[in-house]
Amino acid sequence: MNILLLGSGGREHAIAWKLAQSPEVKKLFIAPGNAGTGLTGINVPLDINDFESIKLFVLENDVDMVIPGPEEPLVNGIADFFKEDGLLCDIPVIGPSKSGARLEGSKDFAKAFMQRHGIPTAAYRTFNAADLGAAKEFLRSLKPPYVIKADGLAAGKGVVICTDLNDAEREATEMLEHKRFGKASEKIVIEEFLSGIELSVFVLTDGNSWVLLPEAKDYKRIGEGDTGLNTGGMGSISPVPFADEEFMEKVTLQIIEPTIQGLKEENIDYKGFIFFGLINVNGNPNVIEYNVRLGDPETESVIPRIKTDLVYLLKKAADQSLDTAKIEFNQHFAATVMLVSGGYPGTYQKGFPVSGLKNKYPSEIFHAGTTTDDSNGEVKTSGGRVIAITSLAADSAEALRLSYETATQINYQGKTYRKDLGFDLF
Ligand code: AMP
Ligand code: GLY
Repeated sequence: MNILLLGSGGREHAIAWKLAQSPEVKKLFIAPGNAGTGLTGINVPLDINDFESIKLFVLENDVDMVIPGPEEPLVNGIADFFKEDGLLCDIPVIGPSKSGARLEGSKDFAKAFMQRHGIPTAAYRTFNAADLGAAKEFLRSLKPPYVIKADGLAAGKGVVICTDLNDAEREATEMLEHKRFGKASEKIVIEEFLSGIELSVFVLTDGNSWVLLPEAKDYKRIGEGDTGLNTGGMGSISPVPFADEEFMEKVTLQIIEPTIQGLKEENIDYKGFIFFGLINVNGNPNVIEYNVRLGDPETESVIPRIKTDLVYLLKKAADQSLDTAKIEFNQHFAATVMLVSGGYPGTYQKGFPVSGLKNKYPSEIFHAGTTTDDSNGEVKTSGGRVIAITSLAADSAEALRLSYETATQINYQGKTYRKDLGFDLF
């Protein structure tokens, strides 16, 4: 079969790498892709939110399945677009309908959904611009730190945590009155702060049944010891040591099952990945957020731990037969180190040549922000997160050691990475 994968990050390279191992795949297209996906499949210059162009491409190239990597096309309704089109309706899109994508696209919807279905999450209230006074009053009733979230998608920048009440009130004003995130902050969610270690749990669902994928933990802050600004993610590890059988049993019973059941009860069409952003509060999982896709850089350590053919699983999600699916994990430990551009997540320069990519390593190299220079075939940096390096080993220390060793061999001007991944766990 022919598959079209949408996206251009490390997540998409890891998915493409896995898809390319499937005997079922004839042609793998990645739109727009990066220098790494261009080696795994065929990059095509499509805008992932231009559904009419995607339609033309899918029909001209006999695409049999579409896999959106990031959330945006899903929140914009790509699954509905296919379903409602006479020529596309039999081509599965791996991802929820627009209605299901509200789990990520609207924090207010997600919180209310969790409340309706008794899913553990921080207490909260939602406010719109007319309620600014009430929002401030609510903030004053809470203990610090204060958690303020723009309702809609804000490129990962929509969550602000303040220790000071005045700062919190200013943030609420910025979002509601001054529309700091445009439409995304027409509403805000203010919620109770939860204290604990976070982890990412993933399932693939067909709307009735689901399979659990390996869990992971990502490292979001730029600085060692989890300090400094938030980034898209500086690395990930899988499995997560505290996600033992007892903890995962709670996740299943208190979070995954009620979520799938809730979607069903509300007649929300959902065939795709659910990413549960969880926090472990004294041994009890709480939901921080839902995402309707896989995580980045979690995918770079999760996907290499799935032994089962991904196309087999995705087909079962599409034709609603996941109840008969078998999934096997690699029991090894995976560690992903992200190499980023100097200055990231602030301003940084692009266009630096990347060396060392062609050597043999005991690691997988997943490209994130890279492009190929058409004039000489050279790989150049083109984003904040540049290369994800994943190693598998029987224990965590060895997996980390291998990824760090590889990290010294790949070079470009300004190369930056965290050297303390796993510091909080091992
Ligand atoms: P989100 O975009 O909802 O994942 O939020 C970004 C980050 O903010 C999360 O990964 C957490 O680290 C933090 N965060 C969000 N909500 C809370 C909360 N209620 N309590 C503590 N930390 C939170
Ligand atoms: N690593 C977190 C995310 O993908 O949203």
